[in-house]
Order: sequence, then structure tokens, then C-alpha cells
Amino acid sequence: TIAELSQSQIHKGDYLHFMEKEIFEQPKVVKDTLLYACKQENGKQLENGKPEEYATPGAKQFSSARKDPENAENPDFSYEAFSMAEKDFQDISRVRVIACGSAYHAGWVLKSVCESLARVPVQVELASEFRYNHPILENGELVLSISQSGETADTLAAVKEAKKLGAKTLSIVNVKGSAIAKESDFVFYTQAGPEIAVATTKAYSCQLVAGYIFSLLLAKAKGKISREEASNLTEELFLLPGKVQQCLSMDQEILPMAKELKDADNIFFLGRGLDWAISMEGALKLKEISYIHCESYSSGELKHGTISLIEKDSPVIGLLSQEELAGKSISNIHEVRSRGAKCFAIKTEDIAIEEEDFAGSLSVAKTHPLFAGSLLVLPLQFLAYRVSLLKGFDPDKPRNLAKSVTVE
Ligand code: G6P
Repeated sequence: TIAELSQSQIHKGDYLHFMEKEIFEQPKVVKDTLLYACKQENGKQLENGKPEEYATPGAKQFSSARKDPENAENPDFSYEAFSMAEKDFQDISRVRVIACGSAYHAGWVLKSVCESLARVPVQVELASEFRYNHPILENGELVLSISQSGETADTLAAVKEAKKLGAKTLSIVNVKGSAIAKESDFVFYTQAGPEIAVATTKAYSCQLVAGYIFSLLLAKAKGKISREEASNLTEELFLLPGKVQQCLSMDQEILPMAKELKDADNIFFLGRGLDWAISMEGALKLKEISYIHCESYSSGELKHGTISLIEKDSPVIGLLSQEELAGKSISNIHEVRSRGAKCFAIKTEDIAIEEEDFAGSLSVAKTHPLFAGSLLVLPLQFLAYRVSLLKGFDPDKPRNLAKSVTVE
């Protein structure tokens, strides 16, 4: 619990808020999570000591050689990081993700990446709904819970229910020895460190990374990707911390957009595929700490509902990182623009847009399209943080919200 943390661990340092500090920690924690997932070679001890912090419950103990990706020839991920064997991965026929809040949004990213790489079907469900929907779990279906705290009551109850139904359970959690970690057959520990701000940033980023690694290992175990593809994807993943670092300059670059949006009553976020998954998190982040109504909509679904809400100057933020979908998303942006919307783009640098269509745009570095969310989310976090400050709120303590919800 936060009360148990030492003063140094919960110090804000030079930052004004924990949220700001935690956003800035992301290059490091993304790298730490990648390293945590690396193959054990010679090392029995983690670089920082304390292997027990990384121990998984149950019989198997995982320890990792902490390779420096810049010096390592072949950084590689290990099944052991999930306290699983290759056979456990081979036995997975379907995946059911259960989670709440931002962790649920991370689940949607995992679904896209996993279905694309491993061709294993993934269903994402809100933990609070799972138990009451008369769940049907197939043989070989892995129930994968995602949780920062590892204590969320709904997620814990869903894991227990899944076990009762005979499923194997894996959890991706941040807090060692937490209830969900203890309850699960297998565990992967994200390496975000203590997260204090109620609105999650760094833990969510680590959950995305854990999802990528899980998907990559599943694809390997199932023989769905070649060695070369796997090694290219791994290499691209190890470039992420540096690219996340580059995104930190957006703290200032986002200010004009934040100023334009701070007085809005409603803000719409649009995206397709992975961009939609990231837009859910962008909308949640902004609404929870700015108290502006924000809604994420899949671009293609727009014409079936939200477009009726668009009027003159309605702000719309389009997320554009998926080359094959960008054309369609841009034409959806034209649809809202022709109805008077004020449009903004947050995109990867490889996606070309007509600047005059947008009231503002920001570009992040190009990465493999499957991993683009890890970069797009940075400007969205900064946007939420800056709008909250401009409105005079405390982003660390949004009204009515708790960091960890241990009641149903
Ligand atoms: C609370 C927090 C959210 C978080 C959710 C799930 O509602 O305010 O930020 O995403 O719980 O928490 P967990 O610890 O399970 O990830």
C-alpha cells in the first residue's frame, strides 16, 4: 500500500505532481519491463538485487539476466517471465481478458496485437460484467487479468470465478504479492514501480508492453511467426524506450491544443483498430482529471450515432497511426469537419495529413504499427495533465475516484 512505501519512493522530486513524474518515468519503466521479460542466461540475480521482488507465486521462481538492449546482440523474451513454459503457451486456444478501467483498455490493445501476431482469438471483458454474464469458458481458454494494483475487487472476483470454472489464469499485475497475483496460476509483473497518481500513466504503458511480449511469445509458441519476424519485432520493441523518451518534449508542444480544449463541454476521440483502443484511454484520461465529457468512438461507427452530436466547433481528436486504416479515418474526420467540428490530429510521423483540415496536430515517431499506441498515448496523457492544470484542478486527486477500488 502507499502507506508502506518509503518516503523516497513517494517523493515527487522536482515535479509538481505525481502524474507528471510518472509520465516522465515511462522511458525507464518501459525499458525495465522489457528487460524483466528477457531470457534468463547466466544471471541468477537481477542487476538491482532483490530477486524476491520479481518472484512469481507458486513453485516457479523467475530470475532474469538484465541485459542492456543497446549492447545485447539478441535480446529475447522468455516464457519464464510469465512463470509459464512453452507448452503452457502452446495449450492456449483462446484468451479472455478481464480488467477494469485503463487496464481494460490495455486489454483491447492486447487483443489487436495478439490476434494479429498469434492468430489466437481474444475476447476482452469488463471484470465487473464477467461473473454476471454466465461466462462460458472453452477448454484451453486462458483467463488473463490485467491490474495495476492487483487488488481490484471486480477483477479478483472474476479471477476466482474463472478458476472455479476450471480455467488457467494468468495475471499481468504491477504490485508484487497482490491478491490477484496470488490467486492466479501464472503472473507477469510489470515494472512500473509504485504509482501514486490516481490516473494511471506508467502502469498502463507497462501493461501495453506486457501485452506485446505475451502476444509475441504466443505467436512463437504457436509457430505463427518466423524467427526473423520475431527478432525484428523484438528489436523494434527495444527501440520503444528511446522513442517514448522523444515524446516527453510533448509536455510543452501540447499546450496550444490544451488551451483550445480546456473550455469544451464535450470532446470526441476517433480512431480505428488499435487507434480506437488508444482513443478509449485518451478519452478516459482527459475526462477523469478535467471533468470534461469525453467520448471515444470507433471512426466507422460515427455515422451510426455520434455524428448527430457534432455541431459547430465540437472538438474532435483523430488518432492516426495505422497506415492501412488512415485513409478511412481521415475521411471520417472530413465528415465531422464538414459539419463544423474543430479537428485535431495525434498521429505517427509517417501518416500524411492536410494540415489545413486540422486546428492542430502532433506527430510521434514511427514504430511498428502494432506498437504505435505506446507512443500515441504520451501526447494524450500530457493533454489530460495540462488541461487539468489549466482548469485549476489537482490532477493527482480527481474527485470521486480512488486509485484502487476494493469494493464491488
Ligand atoms: C480504478 C482507477 C483506474 C484503474 C482501475 C483498475 O478505477 O481509478 O485508474 O484503471 O481502478 O485498477 P487496477 O489496479 O486493477 O489496474
